Amino acid sequence: ALNPEKKVTLYFLVTGLVFLMVGVAIGPLQALNYAGIDVYRSLPFLKSYYQGLSLHGVLNALVFTTYFISGLLLYLPCRELGVRPNLKMSWAGYWIMTVGVLMAAVAVLGNNATLLYTFYPPLQGSPLFYIGAALLVVGSLVIGAQVVTIWTVWKRRHPREVTPLVTFMSVATWLMWFVASLGLVVEVVFLLIPWSLGLTRGVDPLLARTLFWYTGHPIVYFWLLPAYVSWYGLLPRSAGGVIASQTMARLAFVLFLLLSTPVGLHHQFADPGIGMGWKVLQMLLTFLVVIPSLLTAFSVGASLELGARARGGGGWSGWIRHLPWRDPVFVAQALAMITFIPGGAGGIVNASVALDAAVHNTAWIPGHFHITVGTATTLTFFGVTFWLLPHLTRKPLASRRMALWASWLWFWGMALFAVGMHWEGLIGIPRRTYLATATGLGDMLARAHIPMALTGISGLVLTVAAVLYFTVTFRTLFGPRVTAAQETPIPFSDSLEDAEHRALPAGAATVSPAGARIHGAQLVLDRLWVFTALALLLVVIMYGPTLIGMLLNPHPVPGLRLW
Ligand code: HEM
Repeated sequence: ALNPEKKVTLYFLVTGLVFLMVGVAIGPLQALNYAGIDVYRSLPFLKSYYQGLSLHGVLNALVFTTYFISGLLLYLPCRELGVRPNLKMSWAGYWIMTVGVLMAAVAVLGNNATLLYTFYPPLQGSPLFYIGAALLVVGSLVIGAQVVTIWTVWKRRHPREVTPLVTFMSVATWLMWFVASLGLVVEVVFLLIPWSLGLTRGVDPLLARTLFWYTGHPIVYFWLLPAYVSWYGLLPRSAGGVIASQTMARLAFVLFLLLSTPVGLHHQFADPGIGMGWKVLQMLLTFLVVIPSLLTAFSVGASLELGARARGGGGWSGWIRHLPWRDPVFVAQALAMITFIPGGAGGIVNASVALDAAVHNTAWIPGHFHITVGTATTLTFFGVTFWLLPHLTRKPLASRRMALWASWLWFWGMALFAVGMHWEGLIGIPRRTYLATATGLGDMLARAHIPMALTGISGLVLTVAAVLYFTVTFRTLFGPRVTAAQETPIPFSDSLEDAEHRALPAGAATVSPAGARIHGAQLVLDRLWVFTALALLLVVIMYGPTLIGMLLNPHPVPGLRLW
């Protein structure tokens, strides 16, 4: 039998992957729509393009990610600290989430919550959807609270020690999520649920949107940081290297904790009723997030280079060939990281008040987030499953070749998709449009033949990638268990700092002066509660006046009932 913490982790991961499979199955239909081809008319089980889009966005971006992250960022810190999670709490988190998702699924499948994944009022869906969404978030917070508690207890017992890296990054991610989820919780619990139940007559759409984006931006870091945990903490070992700098990794996470939340207004540049000054200020703060992203790019790049050079690689770029390109664990994550480079660059465009005007609500935006959450995160998680599922189940990966093909095809499919959608966006084609039947777009469609063809082809490539990925995953899960086999190790990586410690001659003082300095810096960064308090303070400053203004001057409107 599986040990109990492996079992609960596996439930989180596999449930997330099953929901992803359903969500992804709809993606190619949308891609064909953006190629001007209508398959929706012949689908008996979907009432509209928008029902399909709601299912796709909610299942992929909200449900899959939350399950996967909850499982991963519960299991890794517990294993690193050598403690058992509280199993009752872990299962409680799982079931709260699952009941929530099933409620929301009933609403969306019944076409009673065709609200797209942003569920902006005044569109009003069934209360089941909002309650379900709230439970999904609450379930994740139960898991996060548990990890933070485990860490707090550990820290109390080891006050002079620095938190091990993967635990540190996981706790920082969860604390960020606590701060970040407040907006969504307040929106859903105090505005949308009472309104959909008929207890209140109206909701102020601007207030609701502001609370939504308060969470809606940092949620992208909730999706991304677990991938960073893997890139910083696990991938170096998979590549045969060591972490170039733990301190850098810790600094990056502290910066994300501080800067992720007070930037959501950059999603509302086109909304009236919010002062331009606040928009510009939050734009500037958003640009600061570039710093931890570049810290990550350079230090993870250095870790991989160290690995490749250790394997005999040399030269200015010749070492790249010496990375383990036959190992799907590495390949999926390396391709995810490469994809994140244009993803990040596009993000800077979106966050700029002036440039956003050119791409706002066009196909550019889904082009952007399919190479960020849809690839940087998702493909990293694919790479993680290639070692984690064998680790949890003691079943070998069913086919390394298939895993490699799935990774490369996802990478190229999303690359084509991104080119097609960004390009369509620059021509002016709107997002969230039933394009195959749309009228009134002038000559836009005539000018978009090439990008539309690219988008359509990408949908087909991604279908093959998804089929291969889920085949290898489920063949692994249902394959025979090799009980005698050794457990696939968790690739917790060493760092250059550790190596320096070990290099000290026997009998020397346990830490060198440089080592002591690093230790001191890391202990300062370990004060995650202080940084959380600072993050909250920044939120109060950046959002307080805008929110108070909206609360003092509300504009409630009745719902446009869709159910
Ligand atoms: C929207 C295709 C996988 C998240 C879209 C759209 C297309 C698409 C064409 C734009 C629809 C529109 O604006 O009308 C695909 C394909 C996929 C795929 C072909 C792979 C087979 C994913 C993944 C994620 C994701 C893995 C996230 C983890 C989203 C979200 C939306 C979206 C959040 C926006 C929904 C909305 O506007 O309400 N997808 N997608 N997709 N996709 Fe995907």
